[in-house]
Amino acid sequence: MKILVTGGLGFIGSHVVVELQNQGFEVIIIDNLSNSSEDVLVGIESITRKRPVFKNIDLRDKTSVLSFFKEYNDIDGVIHFAASKAVGESVENPLLYYENNLNTLVYLLQELQKKGNGSFIFSSSCTVYGQADDMPITESAPVKPAESPYGNTKQIGEEIIRDTCKVSKDIKAIALRYFNPIGAHESVKIGELPIGIPQNLIPYITQTAIGLREQLSVFGDDYPTHDGTCIRDYIHVVDLAKAHVVALKRLIENKNKSNYEVFNIGTGTGSSVLDVIKGFEKVSDQKLNYKIVSRREGDVISAFADTAKANTELGWTAKSTLEEALKSAWDWEQKIRS
Ligand code: NAD
Ligand code: UD1
Repeated sequence: MKILVTGGLGFIGSHVVVELQNQGFEVIIIDNLSNSSEDVLVGIESITRKRPVFKNIDLRDKTSVLSFFKEYNDIDGVIHFAASKAVGESVENPLLYYENNLNTLVYLLQELQKKGNGSFIFSSSCTVYGQADDMPITESAPVKPAESPYGNTKQIGEEIIRDTCKVSKDIKAIALRYFNPIGAHESVKIGELPIGIPQNLIPYITQTAIGLREQLSVFGDDYPTHDGTCIRDYIHVVDLAKAHVVALKRLIENKNKSNYEVFNIGTGTGSSVLDVIKGFEKVSDQKLNYKIVSRREGDVISAFADTAKANTELGWTAKSTLEEALKSAWDWEQKIRS
């Protein structure tokens, strides 16, 4: 089975490529290296003993997308990761985000439409729920107005796929709404490589611990939570990667209930920022330098997944604990700085 993985050299994509190759899928990666490097191929090859085909294509270039599908007219499935993901940058440059996250999606779906069928997995996000009214969050919770152009691209992306599936019954799609992916492969041969100052909690913590940042700022301790800091559902990236493989198989084996489905992918456990710091201190055996500062604009108080749908319908459950995921992030940070 030939699977196209767009953005397959990125953080989540590279872990998915490993899981796909481990399960015998033939992988073709498209990536324009805007947030990754070709070195990731070496990591993938050394874990799986197989180098996937790599095409350096910018998916915003419709002509290149077209020629790719002409050359590879026997693709069985597409997992679409390629996108820009920095929330702050999306506020500064919304058109970059609408172009990169939505045009690319449209071009890929157009190719599947031409082909007449295909299995498609889309990287969505729990950001579509905003501050949900009830915890844990089920897939039927309402989608709230987006807080940023980035978040909006995920909402619109889901709508584009849903509308396409309505008219193209032989296109089968699943949108996976990720909660907070963290960690790295246990081999420490692939992991997260944030460019510049990390905006996300875990890379900021590991970079502080390794001495690249002086101090972590904890954004607010006056939220209505058990310790006043925000709650999130941190999921090990390898667990997340495995969810893609089961979702893809569901489509390929025609086990889907409709041709457009949505699943939450999280652990089901909410952890506060201070819980994460405590966990990190334990696995790294050191104190973390942090201070409490004011709230960050746009942060929701709490978001953790109801995973019952993924558990029962996909037969998938996250296996790693928060500490295991933090340990892998720490191992990775130490490896890349050594
Ligand atoms: P990433 O930046 O590490 O990976 C994205 C990859 O896509 C990069 O390798 C980049 O070079 C490539 N890319 C970007 N634009 C491209 C284009 N026009 N053509 C070809 N390649 C292009 O990001 P990630 O963390 O692995 O995220 C993957 C997907 O998951 C994204 O769609 C992201 O929005 C979504 N997501 C991520 C998170 C998260 O916290 N990491 C959470 C929810 C959803
Ligand atoms: C991020 C993305 C969001 C995406 C979601 C799920 C941002 C701004 N948002 O959200 O679009 O859908 O992941 O993957 O990138 N924190 C600190 N100090 C820091 C960094 C973070 O205290 O230096 C806190 C935040 O206030 C938050 C928690 O840590 O409470 C997690 O933050 P982060 O890793 O940025 O993820 P989200 O905000 O959940």
